Amino acid sequence: MNGRREVLGGPPDGPDVPTGPRTPTAAGTDDVPARPVNPLPDPTELADEARLRPRHLEEFHGQPQLTEHLEIVLEAARRREQPVDHLLFAGPPGLGKTSLAGIVAAEMGVGLRITSGPALVRAGDLAALLTDLQHGDVLFIDEIHRLPRPVEEVLYPAMEDFQLDILIGKGPTARSIRLDLPRFTLVGATTRTGLLTSPLRDRFGFVGRLDLYAAEDLQGIVVRSAGILGVEVELAGARHIASRARGTPRIANRLLRRVRDFVEVRAQGAITASLALEGLELFGVDELGLDKVDRAILDALCRRFDGRPVGLVTLAHCVGEEPDTVEDAYEPYLLQQGLLQRTPRGRMATPRAFAHLGEVAPSAELQGVAPTLW
Ligand SMILES: Nc1ncnc2c1ncn2[C@@H]1O[C@H](COP(=O)(O)OP(=O)(O)O)[C@@H](O)[C@H]1O
Ligand SMILES: [Mg+2]
Repeated sequence: MNGRREVLGGPPDGPDVPTGPRTPTAAGTDDVPARPVNPLPDPTELADEARLRPRHLEEFHGQPQLTEHLEIVLEAARRREQPVDHLLFAGPPGLGKTSLAGIVAAEMGVGLRITSGPALVRAGDLAALLTDLQHGDVLFIDEIHRLPRPVEEVLYPAMEDFQLDILIGKGPTARSIRLDLPRFTLVGATTRTGLLTSPLRDRFGFVGRLDLYAAEDLQGIVVRSAGILGVEVELAGARHIASRARGTPRIANRLLRRVRDFVEVRAQGAITASLALEGLELFGVDELGLDKVDRAILDALCRRFDGRPVGLVTLAHCVGEEPDTVEDAYEPYLLQQGLLQRTPRGRMATPRAFAHLGEVAPSAELQGVAPTLW
């Protein structure tokens, strides 16, 4: 490795699911316009998130299996004095995919270039980035499943043979030339590996799946973030924040900031268990950490459809979100908490969901009735 540690371009922040208009794919299947998943946080929150981002593997809490595998992959590349194989990170938003891309570059002491699938509109956009890379650099493509097909095709030979085919000129005089690229590491992030075409997926040497975090790991993240933000937090306070963070570090950090605000304004001193609970209550975060959209989903399933199975698209329309957003950002936590189940006939609320809303679950017989579409 060349030992450079410079980081080119700031890390992007915010939600990874739908940002900006969706780029049509070659298959033309994307007919649903995308909307941001959550309102974008204000600039100070973005700056805070950048500060809270773990920079090295040892600062990255949780995901023990993934970090162990990654450590081996990085160490092996270091010993061979070769750039790391291409890596793909998959998982719901806010679990650490962007952070891991930065960690790979930092651990290898190489430069980092950051872009995203929807930002690469033409093949030339990617070619410009690729030709600007230096040996060993990490190129991070966020939302890689949203790369337009012609751009994706440029990526294949670049990933496999470190070569770039470019077409020069137009019409009958056009000719293709082949350029050698430096050996680089592509790090891709996606909310679901199933969204990637198989030729693209197959070109990654390592696929790391991020799962929702255990409460203990999130507690560690809250304590670490509090230290960086200069906020005093008692362990029991951190535990309450962690247990309501939907298994997601980004949400844990956001709740920590809200509770910090609450404590600064209404009390003084450390975030204790009771202050954490009061603050979380005030901001409408319930004991399972469900937010407005989660509750709207359960409300639709339990009350509007009386516990009958509901198709994803119908459900998404009911709650005013995109189907992809419901599937990638909301469902994983509801599934993990046993509040929702996926059946061949559609999504259904579980008895636990009814209990959480204070409703009585209808009989199994009634739940078998096909949903009435509206
Ligand atoms: N394993 C982790 N340890 C500590 N903090 C984390 C971890 N994963 C994520 N975070 C925090 O959550 C925020 C969001 O992480 P990010 O890497 O942007 O997620 P993603 O790209 O998957 O949406 C980061 O700013 C960081 O503070
Ligand atoms: Mg990200």
